[in-house]
Amino acid sequence: MNATPQDYRHLDVGPLLGNDSGMNDLLYVNGGNPLSGTITVRGAKNFVSKAMVASLLGETKSVLRNVPQIRDVAVVSGLLSLHGVQVEYSAADGVINLDPSAVESAHVAEIDAHAGSSRIPILFCGPLLHRLGEAFIPDLGGCHIGDRPIDFHLEILRRFGAEVDKREGGIHLRALGRLKGIKMELPYPSVGATEQLLLTAVRAEGITELSNAAIEPEIVDLICVLQKMGAIISVDTDRVIRIEGVDRLTGFTHTALGDRIEAASWASAALATGGDVTIKGAHQVEMMAFLNTFRKVGGQFEVHDQDIRFWHPGGPLRSIVLETDVHPGFMTDWQQPLVVALTQATGLSIVHETVYEKRFGFTCALRKMGANIQIYRECLGGAPCRFGQRNFHHSAVISGPTPLHAADVEVPDLRGGFSYLIAALAANGRSTVRGISLIDRGYEAFQEKLEALGADVSRG
Ligand code: EPU
Repeated sequence: MNATPQDYRHLDVGPLLGNDSGMNDLLYVNGGNPLSGTITVRGAKNFVSKAMVASLLGETKSVLRNVPQIRDVAVVSGLLSLHGVQVEYSAADGVINLDPSAVESAHVAEIDAHAGSSRIPILFCGPLLHRLGEAFIPDLGGCHIGDRPIDFHLEILRRFGAEVDKREGGIHLRALGRLKGIKMELPYPSVGATEQLLLTAVRAEGITELSNAAIEPEIVDLICVLQKMGAIISVDTDRVIRIEGVDRLTGFTHTALGDRIEAASWASAALATGGDVTIKGAHQVEMMAFLNTFRKVGGQFEVHDQDIRFWHPGGPLRSIVLETDVHPGFMTDWQQPLVVALTQATGLSIVHETVYEKRFGFTCALRKMGANIQIYRECLGGAPCRFGQRNFHHSAVISGPTPLHAADVEVPDLRGGFSYLIAALAANGRSTVRGISLIDRGYEAFQEKLEALGADVSRG
């Protein structure tokens, strides 16, 4: 069941609601204007929500800064509030105060109603097992870009000593005594499973060792938060994370790292529209793989202390061969926005998606807009991946440049939705992009930012 903005109204998260104007859920985009100007990106969606969950583990208040006003933050705020955490958010300052001193069990029906379209609820397991000895986790939402199983998560929790009971509408978990540290190797360096293990191990008894862990910058920032809270965690260079469990954790004060997915999305928009955009809050170190690719395609950038400027230098863009991967590779979430820019590159580009098996569904609408994109089951252009033998259309060949023309399109998922905005901005004529509230999940004030960059957009 998906939560609507109304669902949050009784909670103290009003400023997070964002667009609730009652207007139609669509944006008209008059394409053809190069994006130009300066915008700011705040904290990373895929870190902020996890740090908020981590606050549950502390005995004292936490303060998180640089928090964007996006729907995923509202969903997590709602769930934390239901469990007795006092949440106060100031959208203008981007500061969220979290007081977990009165944590309590929530009613199943309410949890279900507040889970929204997010995957974050699964990360409540460890903290709730430590705080309350039990947890109910509703069926998860999230973007339809693959099957997105949670088998690694459940295996981790079972090994720590939790009883996992799948019920209609969700999963009930119970701690059989104090959770105990484990030694485990992930079959794949999953971001969520690594976070699950971290949030559970920090207060489990004894040592936990995870091999083949994900080491995304958002995970490292979560580890920094947990260390501030009193955890003992080391990260080795070979994807091994070791955690010494402690009895108590306190609150934290932390400033979230910037959203490198949002930054790369705007950079791709600058490239696809022939524009010039400076992104405050974008940082080189977390975006190195993207910057290399941006340069290979023919885009230019300039790194400054507080921002990165991205622009199209004029002339043709170059086709590339690209493979998505876990960090430090090219992020899967950068793929969809960049593919739109690749429709404007000369020659054949090959993109091999190795993180999600179904992340090219969004290309249907791009084809409708004039792009020439073919999808293949084979692993093209790189080493075979785990999807190669499984019949998934996970490689794309993009032939360009092709002029894009306006169309009426429906947002399929968060990043695919932003890609449609980029395509509509690059296209000739007036496009209608429907279902834009999905984009609110991860892009703060995107309409205002579009307008600030000179885009001709209006709500339906
Ligand atoms: N996987 C399993 N079993 C599991 C968990 C994962 O097979 O129990 C598989 C997935 O099906 C997928 C792969 O492992 O094929 C990677 O999934 P991962 O667990 O790393 O992804 P996630 O934690 O569900 C987060 C982000 C995604 C981002 C990925 C990869 C959040 C809330 N989501 O998802 O972000 O694409 O890591 O970096 O942090 C987005 O922001 O639009 C988004 C989809």
